[in-house]
Amino acid sequence: MKNNNDVGRRNFIKKTCLAAAAPLLMPLPRASWQPFPFTKVKKRIALVGTGTRGSNAWAKPIVQRYQDHVDLVGICDSNNKRMAFAQNYIGTKAPMYNASDFDKMIKETKPDTVIVTTTDCFHEKYIIRAMELGCDVISEKPLVTDASQGQRIIDAEKRTGKQITTTFNARFGNESEEIKRILETGELGRVISAEYHEFLDIHHGASYFRRWHGKKKFSGSLLVHKASHHFDQMNWWLGSDPIMVNAFGKVGYYGKNNAFRGKNCRTCSFKDSCEFYWDINTARDKGLYLEGESEDGYLRDGCVWDEAIDTYDSMTVEVKYANDVLLSYSLNAFMPYEGQRIAFNCEKGRLDIRTYQNQPWEVTDSYEFRITKNFGESRAYGLSSADGDHGGADDKLRNKLFLTGPTEGNGQIAGSRSGLLASLVGIAAVRSIETGKQQSIDGLVTF
Ligand SMILES: NC(=O)c1ccc[n+]([C@@H]2O[C@H](COP(=O)([O-])OP(=O)(O)OC[C@H]3O[C@@H](n4cnc5c(N)ncnc54)[C@H](O)[C@@H]3O)[C@@H](O)[C@H]2O)c1
Repeated sequence: MKNNNDVGRRNFIKKTCLAAAAPLLMPLPRASWQPFPFTKVKKRIALVGTGTRGSNAWAKPIVQRYQDHVDLVGICDSNNKRMAFAQNYIGTKAPMYNASDFDKMIKETKPDTVIVTTTDCFHEKYIIRAMELGCDVISEKPLVTDASQGQRIIDAEKRTGKQITTTFNARFGNESEEIKRILETGELGRVISAEYHEFLDIHHGASYFRRWHGKKKFSGSLLVHKASHHFDQMNWWLGSDPIMVNAFGKVGYYGKNNAFRGKNCRTCSFKDSCEFYWDINTARDKGLYLEGESEDGYLRDGCVWDEAIDTYDSMTVEVKYANDVLLSYSLNAFMPYEGQRIAFNCEKGRLDIRTYQNQPWEVTDSYEFRITKNFGESRAYGLSSADGDHGGADDKLRNKLFLTGPTEGNGQIAGSRSGLLASLVGIAAVRSIETGKQQSIDGLVTF
């Protein structure tokens, strides 16, 4: 790939036409949830992990758009150079603290809430320490990358009485809200089984394999890092807990599956012939990575053919739910187009959803819905996504956290339990792949 189309997230451009969305009727995840705007004093926020997500999705919007409601009081990262770039990029004078001075940051800047946006495998450490030091936590997904981290988080949340929010922005996409709404109308009756098939296109998909995500020890694999979004959506849509998981997975495209490889794109002798050559010098956030490389050796333009890649690029998962729904899930990360095929097979008919991005043919709507009754009509309609990152979902999530607060009776903001259950499906799937056996979710943690 000669262009710089390293799309790490979806960025839809069309306006929403989701006029039909009705209020959702789920209970709050925790009765004690205290929305920021209901207090007179501005909430103080510290951020740990000043990479792309921390800077672009949280710190910068806080400083530029939510400054009347929340203050960014401190930033922290293990890489001082990356953090220094980020401080300037964010446009903040909030003091910087190295990761080794996390406690010092909390003591000196006195945040109410810590936002955790580090590499996945380090979330737990900061979530627990922040709560021990008296802060609530807003953590990026996946909440954890292994089950023991999950148990320690459950215990710490109980011990400290502090509160964790998991930032499942995928719940806030127009199509996600519409699925929830349709299922709650009961028009199709009881859900008996469901399907969720995720296609990551060759650009977006490859981007995971040139970054830390390609190694399970950092990301827990795409079954945890990426699919935790999808498992959470399914848990939320179905209003039930996953209980049993069976999975298969392999590295079928990236990693060892090529005749040549290099250390990273910049230094590669195959840069003229490799379709996956990615030029970090033209990357949007090159300052975050190139300038910080000398500190931690992290190569943002790693080789997608690295033989050490152990994150599966092709996987299938079956999940059984407490309410007896059976889910069939798959993810492939090397597709010619991006999107999802989702369906619910219900007592009275079937709900089909297709989502598209970067497809090489014309579509009228980003999201296509079809409701077909067993002994009746079939009706189809389209939805568009909203402006902004992740189809406007990031804005909706941030507004809910920093401006409006979660509406009473609306379960769209996820707490620690939802965060853990989503991670645990992926963790159980990895175990199932590694052991060749079905895995029970029940035994992984005790809530
Ligand atoms: N919800 C979403 O749509 C979404 C999208 C992208 C990323 N994310 C999540 O955001 C998080 C960050 O992802 P990213 O793409 O910004 O990655 P990134 O590599 O750009 O940033 C990670 C940052 O964490 C820092 N870091 C690593 N180890 C650390 C440690 N031990 N202590 C302190 N800092 C440490 C790194 O130096 C880096 O600045 C991940 O958990 C990812 O899953 C969520």
